[in-house]
Amino acid sequence: MFTEASNFAEGVDLAFKVIFGISICFLVGITTVMLWFVVKYRRSKHPKAEQIKDNTALEITWTLIPLAIALLMFYYGYVAFRPQRDFPKDAMNVTVVSKMWAWSFVYPGDKESDMLVLPLNKAVVLNLTSLDVIHSFYVPAFRQKEDCVPGKTNQMWFIPTMIGEYWVLCAEYCGMNHSYMEAKVKVVQQSEYDAWINALPKKIAEPEGLTIIKKNGCNGCHSIDGTKLVSTSFKGIYGKESIVVTDGKEHSVTVDDAYIKTSIYEPDKDIVKGLPKGVMKSYKGIISDNDLAKIIDYFKSIK
Ligand code: CUA
Repeated sequence: MFTEASNFAEGVDLAFKVIFGISICFLVGITTVMLWFVVKYRRSKHPKAEQIKDNTALEITWTLIPLAIALLMFYYGYVAFRPQRDFPKDAMNVTVVSKMWAWSFVYPGDKESDMLVLPLNKAVVLNLTSLDVIHSFYVPAFRQKEDCVPGKTNQMWFIPTMIGEYWVLCAEYCGMNHSYMEAKVKVVQQSEYDAWINALPKKIAEPEGLTIIKKNGCNGCHSIDGTKLVSTSFKGIYGKESIVVTDGKEHSVTVDDAYIKTSIYEPDKDIVKGLPKGVMKSYKGIISDNDLAKIIDYFKSIK
């Protein structure tokens, strides 16, 4: 019914079908008995309620049957899940890098792509990382989902078993554009994969200024692509004319080295008109003058 595009999809689906089937039986069973009792024990027939106490045989039955049902559900879940934790030694490795709100995939040889391309019928281990908050790497067609947690590397593995293009989604709420955090995974023949990986350019080293910005979490409130977050975006900020409020008085400033320094070390001194005071902390003693220069260089590069 739904595309099963990995070696684990069938087992996961079977566990789902078993649990879903049991749930349907309970839904129909309970509803039927409930309706039947409503009619059978209606007030005109049974004007006086009766107390029923102790029935050992019945109590044993209603304990053992649900126990068997629960163990059955556990069995199918366990059988589907267990092999997902036995990582193959000869698999190909790809690092998944997640950040607000995009995925990128780093291949051996430091090659980076925003699309995950995988050869058909070849085991792949994904090393899941995050640059900021918790995301969750989810490919519905593969029935695979695992969290990307900052500061640690989680792993998943599978074998893509069907040629095609599938969605990668983020399954952990990670902020404003969470629902747009998506990518494509493309499963192709080995020859097509080889051609693609050979043509893929090497990853471009990140500017130092950007690394410092990320390390201090500045990009949580200031975007680097022009998106409006809590505060102004860094894109095009250098050299811009801005209206700020200093000691209650509005005036115009040019965003230059001195202004950026003041904004980082004394964020409440000149508040951009329309933004609240007291939201940003001072980074004096946290971001050095040297790092500040690198940040300014980076701002100049994203005009
Ligand atoms: Cu990343 Cu939700």
